[in-house]
Amino acid sequence: MAKRFGDIFHLLMGVRNLVVVSSPELAREVLHAQGVEFGSRTRNVVLDIFTGKGQDMVFTVYGDHWRKMRRIMTVPFFTNKVVQQNREGWEEEIRLLVEELRRNPKAAKEGVVIRRRLQLMMYNNMFRIMFDRRFESEDNPLFNKLKAINFERSRLSQSFEFNYGDFIPVLRPFLRGYLNRCREVKERRLRLFHEQFVAERKKMMEEQGSKFELKCAMDHILDAERRGEINYDNVLYIVENINVAALETTLWSIEWGIAELVNHPAIQIKLRRELDTVLGSAQLTEPDLVRLPYLNAVVKETLRLRMAIPLLVPHMNLHDAKLAGFDVPAESKILVNAWWLANNPALWKDPEQFRPERFLQEEAGVEANGNDFRFLPFGVGRRSCPGIVLALPIIGISLGCLVHNFELLPPPGKDRVDMAEKAGQFSLQIMTHSTVVCKPTKL
Ligand code: HEM
Repeated sequence: MAKRFGDIFHLLMGVRNLVVVSSPELAREVLHAQGVEFGSRTRNVVLDIFTGKGQDMVFTVYGDHWRKMRRIMTVPFFTNKVVQQNREGWEEEIRLLVEELRRNPKAAKEGVVIRRRLQLMMYNNMFRIMFDRRFESEDNPLFNKLKAINFERSRLSQSFEFNYGDFIPVLRPFLRGYLNRCREVKERRLRLFHEQFVAERKKMMEEQGSKFELKCAMDHILDAERRGEINYDNVLYIVENINVAALETTLWSIEWGIAELVNHPAIQIKLRRELDTVLGSAQLTEPDLVRLPYLNAVVKETLRLRMAIPLLVPHMNLHDAKLAGFDVPAESKILVNAWWLANNPALWKDPEQFRPERFLQEEAGVEANGNDFRFLPFGVGRRSCPGIVLALPIIGISLGCLVHNFELLPPPGKDRVDMAEKAGQFSLQIMTHSTVVCKPTKL
């Protein structure tokens, strides 16, 4: 649509105004120059349910509540100290995954759906940060319960099925069944977070009183609740946000990265050569990442071509505003077409090609943190992704360790894995969770 209608266009979708911006200059205007004006969020009928009308952080309007939530979440989740405290846990998780794949004779022959085990790894990475907890295997019943209910939350909110009732309120009665299902899933999910995870930490905190040492992210969040800064519902919505924002996006990106490396064996070999030269037979650790420029380029190229949130999370202006000379009515939904900014042939050389070298050659110096308005996989500015500080090392360690330890190949009889895309309200996921052959590179 950006090709047809240009860098900015306006659509009236029922009662909602939608503005899509698709140039670096306009992205700068929305996210930076007028970052406050456009720093709010729209929700829809379904997200209203899942976030209790914005009692969370990701989907709340710009204002005091958002500022408070972002501040409270920063120390326990979004600093380099968190990375340093947790990186050994992430390194252990990927090591366990590698060992399991090595022990599984199927992995080297017919291949495995590697995504399933990566999902366990990602849950463990985040649940260690949040609750100092992990799940020992893919068969763990609590892990499976969580996975199923998170999947249902995602399916219901990423579907396009409810748009008609969202855009045209008189049609909402037809959505009654759908919305009831959302309510039921939301209640069950928050109850699970409370009963199985949060209550345990809260009890420990209450029992130990002033002697209690803040150990994991949840302790910091509960401490903020104890001080009266937020209420218990906000605590549960923070868990809700992390379960969506952190787990899925990072997992999708790792999955895309693996698929690209399987389909580009020469790039995979080049990456393995870098890992072998720099690390020898030692396991990749987080501090090694700065010495692995090609690995970093592979991560960036994955995020460029396979952007997990291609239109960012929708922004909104609380008041009437102006953009590129046009009037934008208050409460318009503003989409920044980040995927197009990173894939527009007028701005990038051969953007359709998976070519990590670009980030070492003509695009050297372009980082994923928004230092260039053509490349915004995590957004930039006030509402940008604070999780970037965790996501980049986790993706780097995961892809690096896999390629260091295995030749990643398509399953027997195929010469590539399927790269078909599945789009959701916000997301760009891989459609098929591919079977990948993992042939050990070292004995
Ligand atoms: C590859 C992984 C990830 C990608 C591609 C990604 C991408 C994004 C994007 C595009 C946004 C919206 C930016 C905007 O609207 O301007 C966002 C917001 C957010 N992300 Fe991430 N994210 C990732 C991982 C994470 C992780 C690991 C966490 C938490 C640990 C996280 C937490 C959040 C939160 C809390 C917000 C909302 C920020 C706000 O509204 O103020 N994300 N993310």
